[in-house]
Amino acid sequence: MKDIFDKRTVLVSGKGGVGKTTVAAAFSRAAAAAGKRVLATEVAYETDSPTPLADLLGVKHATDDPQRVSDNLSMALLTPHAGHLHFLRDALPMRMLADAAMKSAAIRRFLLAAPSLAEMGLLYRMLNLLRRTRSDGSFEFDVLVIDLPATGHALGLAQVPSAILKVITRGPVYDAVKDGLAMMRDPLRTGTLLVTLPETLPTSEAIELARGIATHHVPLAGIVVNRVPHNPFSPAERAVVDALALDPQRTLGARTLPRLDRARESLARIESELGRPPMILPEIIDEAQVEARVFAAITALAGAA
Ligand SMILES: Nc1ncnc2c1ncn2[C@@H]1O[C@H](COP(=O)(O)OP(=O)(O)O)[C@@H](O)[C@H]1O
Ligand SMILES: [Mg+2]
Repeated sequence: MKDIFDKRTVLVSGKGGVGKTTVAAAFSRAAAAAGKRVLATEVAYETDSPTPLADLLGVKHATDDPQRVSDNLSMALLTPHAGHLHFLRDALPMRMLADAAMKSAAIRRFLLAAPSLAEMGLLYRMLNLLRRTRSDGSFEFDVLVIDLPATGHALGLAQVPSAILKVITRGPVYDAVKDGLAMMRDPLRTGTLLVTLPETLPTSEAIELARGIATHHVPLAGIVVNRVPHNPFSPAERAVVDALALDPQRTLGARTLPRLDRARESLARIESELGRPPMILPEIIDEAQVEARVFAAITALAGAA
């Protein structure tokens, strides 16, 4: 997974509650520690949406504008609104007109109502942030990390460019979206980290999502299986424990032992059905240690071949 820090966009996808935000924050910090200029973002549809990634990174009032978190690391919200504004500025002849249009509540409501228009705004904002340069001509942000809201969202974003290109057939917006589409499909520049849990149903859903992502030609950088429980038993020791025939109504171990088996099965299934081994992040028992330990695990994974 070494080359994952070399991508320009890393999409963090998966169901709610699997650890997407934890992974997005740890990955952002790890890439920044490796010397990349990182912009960590999370999708926010409304200005009052909750901002768990900002909270985790210690940013009190996250906005569309990137704010410094630490050396090499900034954080911003990724909003359809910012994308629509830039889109209109690029598409309309006069900047004043675009700014005035975006002040209209009716227009904003319209742009948010159709899901593909909201996603178009997100995509346009993404491209806009990726293109930003510093005075020496280098990119302001080497890596854009996006904490996506829910399963399927990477697919939604991937469908946007071709929809726009059907409507707009030339000009600066066309060029930008065309470049964006090429970038989103380029495994050297874009990668999805698909986060899931080592349980039966989440594993099935992750395999399905990985296939959907492939259908849309969005590159999959890796499947991250988070919260994999530590298995302290050798096969011989496990046989001894199993022989105790623990009563599931009265013994905690009787419930946690099958969890170890489901985790092993989940990892094996992902590898056999998707043809590649998943990246494993351990279950951290001490809540206060989750961030630091997941950061360490991701740093180690990225350092490995
Ligand atoms: N490896 C882990 N071990 C233990 N707890 C974890 C781990 N990863 C995430 N968590 C916890 O799980 C909860 C949900 O994580 P979060 O990153 O917010 O998920 P999501 O963004 O997918 O909804 C949080 O309380 C987080 O601290
Ligand atoms: Mg989250």
